[in-house]
Amino acid sequence: MEPFYVTTPIYYVNDVPHIGHAYTTLAADTIARWKRLAGADVFFLTGTDEHGVNIERKAREDGVSPQEWTDRIAPRWVALWKRLGISKDDFIRTTEPRHIRVAQQLFQLAYERGAIDKGTYEGWYCPSCEAFYTEDELLEGRLCPIHKRPVEWTAEENYLFRLSRYQDWILHKIEREPEFIQPESQRNEMLSLIRGGLRDLAVSRLSVKWGIPVPFDPAQTIYVWIEALMNYLTAIGYLDHPERYRRFWPTVHHLVGRDINRFHSVIWPCFLEAVGLPSPRQVWAHGFWTVDGEKMSKTRGNFIDPIAEITRLAEASGAQWDVAADAFRYALLREVPFGQDGDYSHAALVHRFNADLANDFGNLLNRTLPLVARHFDGQIPAPGAPEGPDGGLRKAAEEVPAAAGARIGTFEFTRGLAEIWRLLGVANKYIDEAAPWSALKAGKPARAGAILYNTLEALRIATVLLTPVLPAATQRVWDQLGIPAPLSAQRLPDASRWGGLPAGARIRQGAPLFPRIETRPAARIPSTKEGAE
Ligand code: MSP
Repeated sequence: MEPFYVTTPIYYVNDVPHIGHAYTTLAADTIARWKRLAGADVFFLTGTDEHGVNIERKAREDGVSPQEWTDRIAPRWVALWKRLGISKDDFIRTTEPRHIRVAQQLFQLAYERGAIDKGTYEGWYCPSCEAFYTEDELLEGRLCPIHKRPVEWTAEENYLFRLSRYQDWILHKIEREPEFIQPESQRNEMLSLIRGGLRDLAVSRLSVKWGIPVPFDPAQTIYVWIEALMNYLTAIGYLDHPERYRRFWPTVHHLVGRDINRFHSVIWPCFLEAVGLPSPRQVWAHGFWTVDGEKMSKTRGNFIDPIAEITRLAEASGAQWDVAADAFRYALLREVPFGQDGDYSHAALVHRFNADLANDFGNLLNRTLPLVARHFDGQIPAPGAPEGPDGGLRKAAEEVPAAAGARIGTFEFTRGLAEIWRLLGVANKYIDEAAPWSALKAGKPARAGAILYNTLEALRIATVLLTPVLPAATQRVWDQLGIPAPLSAQRLPDASRWGGLPAGARIRQGAPLFPRIETRPAARIPSTKEGAE
């Protein structure tokens, strides 16, 4: 199987993390875990973007040096990812010496190859985007189209990357390779952007001191976006780990939000082409989360903090914190198809928790294990010869792994999860119909045992398939099932083959994983009119 390399954008250290940031990283984590489950050699990278004028200013406001500032903030990101169960293989900071070396070397190479030369650049600069805009891209009142904040007129003598020369090359590449940019809407947007003409790009700054010095002109620093993109090469060892570099480049999938798609799918491949390196395999540009239809922003005060959301869910339900974190992961990936915009609401999270996780998934465990404990001495009963509804359950359990894999493996999380929920739905219906409790009453314990075996086997398969999305909860389910082989050692397709549940294993019943949250209907407040009457 081909090695698999997945990246998140590296996050600016001037912001507090919100659900938008968490989303890219959760999606990357899910795909990384899925590929590992499928047996691939995976490298999953995230990190922090630490240079640039914005961070320089932020540190100044705080009265500390930019280095002190970034040293203070970067660990917060590391801690956030730890709490969210992110299985990163590396965390890169752009202020690390290993990155500075790579950035300077590639910049030098582009210069020597004539792709970069000196010029004058004038334009409107948005410090929050760290990007130039043309007059017609700006909103009324000269506001940045993304941040809706005033842009700054910047005129400097600096180095230009001759992006315009690569216009035809990148256009043909995107036309020829439909999979290169996903989803389709983003691919079309990039095609029209390129057809509108690519302008040369200022790739150094004279006035910005907090950056990596241009190796052949140390009065200038390298434009933060250009060096930030290079982190993807640094981390796999472009300069210091050639074997690993060759294994993972260019089989890389960059996950990004659609606001930064053009940097990844236009500028980055052109720069790589200029220095003679291959383009990434794919850029996946997902949609944006809004809150009540509005962009999240500090000024509006509608920032959604993932940790606060999870804590609220854990407190309302009594679930373990890591299980609540899983529910948050699940809700984000299940609610909105990857690639589309979505509106976040806590109510949707609670609904997913109750309906999908408590009712469909958790309940399957709660309905079976007590019977195993009471009637089978706490040991997984033996499967019997198939009867009646058994075939339908087995059929679903045999179809779903491949169907879910085809979706999740191509970033269609919503549909992949719907497939797994189809199996859970069939299993819940099966136990209702096959009614092991009636078989017990009728004095047919072997049949009751077989029904429980089948139900738990379907649950085992669903649990394996859910590890990429619910890493903590699935481990707890596995523990309750008492299966001796570690969950982390399970590999597809073997682990999803019917019959893998070992009869005789001793279950370890525990507290319900997803205790339902009672949602009371909102109290009715009489309108003023009613009150007056
Ligand atoms: N530092 C650059 C990336 C450099 S990569 C070489 C950057 N950082 S960021 O911290 O501003 O944003 C990181 C990611 O968060 C981007 O993918 C962005 O699209 C995503 N999101 C920020 N707000 C978002 C939402 N409201 N919704 C979904 N994702 C959003 O850009």
